[in-house]
Formats: sequence, C-alpha cells, structure tokens
Amino acid sequence: MQTRKATAVSCSNIAFIKYWGNYDARLRLPLNDSISMNLDALRTETTVEFDDALENDEIVIGEQSADERTERRVVEQLNRIRAEAKIDTKARVHSRNNFPSAVGLASSASAFAALTLAGTRAAGLELGERALSILARQGSGSAARSIPAGFVEWLAATNVTSISSQSYAHQVMPPDAWDLCDVIAIVSSEAKKVGSNEGHSIAHTSPFFGERLSRLPNRYHRVRRELLAKNLKGMGPDVETEAIELHAIAMTSRPPIFYWLPGTIRVMDAVRQWRGAGLSAYYTLDAGPNVHILVEGKDSAEVAKRVRELADVQDVIISGPGEGARLSEEHLF
Ligand code: DP6
Repeated sequence: MQTRKATAVSCSNIAFIKYWGNYDARLRLPLNDSISMNLDALRTETTVEFDDALENDEIVIGEQSADERTERRVVEQLNRIRAEAKIDTKARVHSRNNFPSAVGLASSASAFAALTLAGTRAAGLELGERALSILARQGSGSAARSIPAGFVEWLAATNVTSISSQSYAHQVMPPDAWDLCDVIAIVSSEAKKVGSNEGHSIAHTSPFFGERLSRLPNRYHRVRRELLAKNLKGMGPDVETEAIELHAIAMTSRPPIFYWLPGTIRVMDAVRQWRGAGLSAYYTLDAGPNVHILVEGKDSAEVAKRVRELADVQDVIISGPGEGARLSEEHLF
C-alpha cells in the first residue's frame, strides 16, 4: 500500500427528479433515474488515513466522535474500500462541513462522496469517475451524484443484468453552463426524526407509489430536456410536482412520514405568489422541511431578501452549481 493519507472535498446536491425507493436496498440500486445539481455552498471535506497501529476505525465528524449509526455506515463504506484495495488496515477519518452544522442540512451525499474519494486514494487506489460513483452510491444513494461536477444524472439501470456496475452518475452539463441558484430557506434546524434510509424502505407501502413510478419517465425526459435548454420556466413546474409527489408518497407510506412544517408551507405559498407577480422561482424539497428555491443567478439576491422577511425562516443559504468531488492537499489532521 503506497498512499496512506488523502483528503477530498465534495459538494452536496439538490435533486430535480428524486431518488425515492430502492430496487436493491443493500446495494442502493434505485427504482428510478434521478437528476440533480451539485451545491457549491454546501461542501464536506474529509481526510482518511490508514494506519497499521490502529485496532479500530476512528471517526470524527466536526469536533465530535460520530454517533453509533453514522459510525456504522462509515465503517461499512471503509470496508467496501478495503475490499476493493485488498487491505485490512484500520483508518482514521476526520470530516467537516463548510456550512453550519446547526441548520438541518447535514448531507450524506457530500459526506459519502468525499469519504469515497479520500478513502480510495488513501488506500492506494486510483478509481475513475464511474467507479467512484458506483462505490459512493453504496454508502448513500445520492452520493453517487456528488462525484461528477455540475448538473448530473444517476442511471437506475433497472433494465440490465449485472446492475450494480451500471448504476452510476455522470455529468449532463458542467457547473458553469448555467447560472442557476438554489436559495435555501431554513425553517427548521432540528435533525430529522426519520432518515431517508427508512423512507426508501417503506416507499412501496404507499398506495400511490406505482402511480408515481409510472409517471416518472415522461417527467424525467421533460426535465432533462428543459435543463439542457437552460429553461427554468420549462423545467420548474415539473420540479415542483416531483417534490410534492415524493412527499405525498412519504405521507401515505406505512407508517406515514411528515417532513413538512408550517414554515415549509408558508415558503411554498410565498414562492407561488411571487411567481404570480412575475418572478421566475420554483421550489423543491429534500427529505426534510427546508425549502430549496430555484432561481436564475440574477434573481437570487432579491429572492433571498424576500425569504429572510418571511415568518419561520431562520436562515438563508444561496448556492450556485458546484464542482465534482476532488482531492485537496490540505489535510484536516
Ligand atoms: C429525498 O441518498 O439520503 O433527498 O441512500 O439512504 O443515504 P440513502 O438516501 P439518500 O436519499 C435522498 C433522498 C432525497 C432525494 C434525492 O436526493 O434524490
């Protein structure tokens, strides 16, 4: 084993067409294709060092040791990396986000993308983008999309055999191709009670899940086409419908999951009103209560100002399109 320590930086992403539900939960093979934009303002930096003197993996997130659940997921990802590199050395992992950890945006996408790139390099592997995306996907599905830069699609590949090697993300458009902005309205900074992991596993219990899957291919192609045309007005209505449908699935799963708070609905209403008055803005949501408002860069300051004035909004983060996962010379320890 040659390299022992490596650091990587990776952006989080916001999906326009969402990943919700797995075909194979263990391998995180999704039931549908998804499209997203990397978020330049939300980055995770991770250093991994393999050290023969360690008896166990040591994982520090921010300034603290990782909680048990997070630690288990990180160790599982280190195990995948070790299996690929044919080593059994334990690792020291230190990870931190560039955004305040108290805003409820903790991101498994940026975290697992950075861990996968830093971990494979530290283990002496030099994987290409596709192999990194496949490996990151197994740590957290949406992390597959944080490996390539800019606007990205992740192929479900449900129609092929040997599926794991075919389900990866690749770039649709580079980050500088379109000055699209995500104005994120933080309406709650509490950690969510039900993680995406559980949401994926019960999505099929919603009586509307089959209906969602049957509508997705057409919506997907329209969103992809309008994205490439850089047409927010063309893409926006489908992006909103997509977010609402995902939450409708969550709310009608057994047991139901309610991510929306009163502030979520207030922000969504405000965006609809601003649009009625001529502003081109469309919202989407992750598996949480915070609202992501998509606007052209030229409108981002005005929209951020209006969002800050809304009741229930605790903080606002503005992000443009971000780079893919990349190595850094600045180690965290
Ligand atoms: C609603 O990638 O967080 O944000 O694979 O269990 O880590 P795991 O799930 P995760 O799910 C993301 C769900 C989503 C939609 C999306 O980003 O596509």
